[in-house]
Parts: sequence; structure tokens; C-alpha cells
Amino acid sequence: MSELKAILQQDVFSPEDLRRMLEADSAGDRDRIFATAAAIRKKYVGNKFYLRGLVEYSNVCRKNCLYCGIRASNRAVVRYTISREVVLNCVRHALEMGYGSVVIQSGEVTGAPFVDGIEHLLRDIDNLSGGSLGITLSCGEQSLDTYQRWFDAGAHRYLLRFESASQELYGRIHPADNLHAFSNRLRALNDLREVGYQLGSGMMIGLPGQTMENLVGDLLLLKELDVDMVGMGPYIGHPDTPLYADSHLAGSPATRLELSLRMIAVLRIMMKDINIAASTALDSLDPSGREQAIAAGANVLMPNLTPVNYRENYFLYTNKPYLTEADELMERFQNSAILQGFAIGYRERGDSKHYAARS
Ligand code: 5AD
Ligand code: SF4
Repeated sequence: MSELKAILQQDVFSPEDLRRMLEADSAGDRDRIFATAAAIRKKYVGNKFYLRGLVEYSNVCRKNCLYCGIRASNRAVVRYTISREVVLNCVRHALEMGYGSVVIQSGEVTGAPFVDGIEHLLRDIDNLSGGSLGITLSCGEQSLDTYQRWFDAGAHRYLLRFESASQELYGRIHPADNLHAFSNRLRALNDLREVGYQLGSGMMIGLPGQTMENLVGDLLLLKELDVDMVGMGPYIGHPDTPLYADSHLAGSPATRLELSLRMIAVLRIMMKDINIAASTALDSLDPSGREQAIAAGANVLMPNLTPVNYRENYFLYTNKPYLTEADELMERFQNSAILQGFAIGYRERGDSKHYAARS
């Protein structure tokens, strides 16, 4: 038996095993990895993917992450916060289309008006859907008290990517100050866990200067955090950001696509029953990027419900498929040849099976 075949049958993986899977370069080995991920996915979470309607609630952010298009110092961005009524219309749209959940995403803002605003919104969404919709928040690092209030108001999942498990790489892609400390990110992830959320995290793939060892470290941190959900996707340079100057150090689009798909497959093999999102950024590299992600092991799709007039100011990265309407996207997925044999989990919340097993 070749070494890779043996590795694929294990339940626990060493850093060397993970690296071997990420680097396997023969077509036969690649097929074996993706076939194993497909079999595990079918057995543990089924051949279904779940829908989360994404609302990019506000692009106001107090941070200055060096890679992000809506960083505080980018003056080219017109800042907005969507009104309660408009958000609720997006939620109605999600309900009409049969999505099982919604995601409220924003830049990182602290302070009472923002925290209270989200709290009210959560109660409104919960009322509107009669408690039937899953609600995910992705609003950055907040205090334990804030996380608790939002949880009590109806949010039960939270996405906070750690961006890179390597403190050294994290330091290179964030300003060197207290606001951007890696330790704060880990503290926030622990707080979210303590409050009782389904915990989601992840990172960017193909960052300038990122090594294979870094990616192995990322997978190991996801495992150590015992996350319930993962959102990870390719790094896409944005010209209005400092990190853009290093874009030539990031892999080619084809390399980042392959690496992202392989990370999904390996993560599925490693953490069998978690939810994994097909990240929107993949579509910037390939028109069928997200379909390929689902075939590789992802089981969550997040159609964008943000009204189109706001979207041009929510460019975290360039070439974002920003005009794709959620309804068009669903048509694309329903008709996709890549997704033969997959079902869409309409009207299902699709909570993380890993969370249920853990609790
Ligand atoms: N390329 C890819 N992903 C990005 N994000 C921010 N900027 C970029 C970029 N240039 C991701 C980060 C963040 C999430 C909301 O968007 O991982 O956590
Ligand atoms: Fe703000 Fe998030 Fe962008 Fe960082 S990645 S600048 S926290 S929106």
C-alpha cells in the first residue's frame, strides 16, 4: 500500500500526514484524496448543501487589516449601515426562497449604538421567522458580554476567522498594535465557545509569503479549537490595500484555486461532521469555483442578499462577483453539472452535526 493510501485511512493526522495530502502531486493521489473526502462527506453529513442568505449589514470598520478593501483607512469606500426595515426585507426574501438561515456580517464596530442595533435586529429576525431561521453573526471581536447579549437575542452561530494560525504571518498581514493582536482573536474565539455558539473560524489561503507549513498549522488550529463550522477561502489582492504591493508573492489564480479545494478536501477528511462553506472568493478565481468547493467537501452556500446598491461598497477583495443576485445563483447551482447527485437543503437550518455531537 502506498503511504498516501494508508494515511487516508487514519482518523488522526500528524503535521507530516497533512502536508503529504496537501502536496500530493500525482493525478492518482489527487483523485484518491478527493474520493476519500467525497465518501466521508456522504457518510457523515450527506450529499446535501445548506443555504445561508448573507446580509452585508454595515461596512463601517474600526480596523485596518492590511489585506481588506473596507479597512478603516480606505477613503475610497462610502460607508453605510443598512436600515432595520431593509435588513428585514432581505430576511423575508430568504424565507420566501426557502433558505434555512441568514448571516449578518459587518465590519468590526464596538460601542452601544452598534451593539444595541444588532441586538434589536436579532430579536426582529427571530420574530419575523417565528424562530425558524438559523441566525449566524459575523461582526468581529467583541466583549464576552456583547457575545452573550447577542446569543440571548437569538444568534446561535458566530463566524470569526483567525486568518492565519501563524503568529508571525498574522503579524505580517495586520498592523502591529493592540487592536490587531493575535491574542485578542484567540480570546474572542474562546469567549464565543464559552457562551455556547456554534463556533466558526477559518483563514485565507494563498496569502503572500504563506508556506505549506503555515497551512498545516491552520488545519491543526481548526482541529484544536474543535470548530463546528469553517469558512476559508483564497486570498484575492485588493489594489487599495497595503498588502497589494506583495501580491506577486501570492500563488497564481490556478494554484490558489487548487490549494483551496485541496484544503477543503483535507479538512473534510480530518473533521468529518463539521459544516464547511464554499467561499464566495473562489468565484473570483473560477466561474465554477463554489460548485467545485461543494464537490470537494463543502456543504454550505451563502447567496448574497445584500441590496445591489450597497454591494459596490463591500469589496473586501477585487473581482468579487458582486452583481450576482441570489436567485440567479440558485439557478446556477440547481443546473450545475458538477453538482449531479447533490441535493439542496431548502427550509432546513442545517445546524452543524459536530456541534450536536459535542453538546
Ligand atoms: N481576500 C480574501 N479574503 C479576504 N477577506 C478580507 N479581505 C480579503 C481578501 N483581500 C476575508 C477575511 C475576513 C473575511 C470577512 O473576509 O478572511 O475574515
Ligand atoms: Fe475590518 Fe474585517 Fe476588513 Fe479587518 S477583515 S478591516 S476587521 S472588515
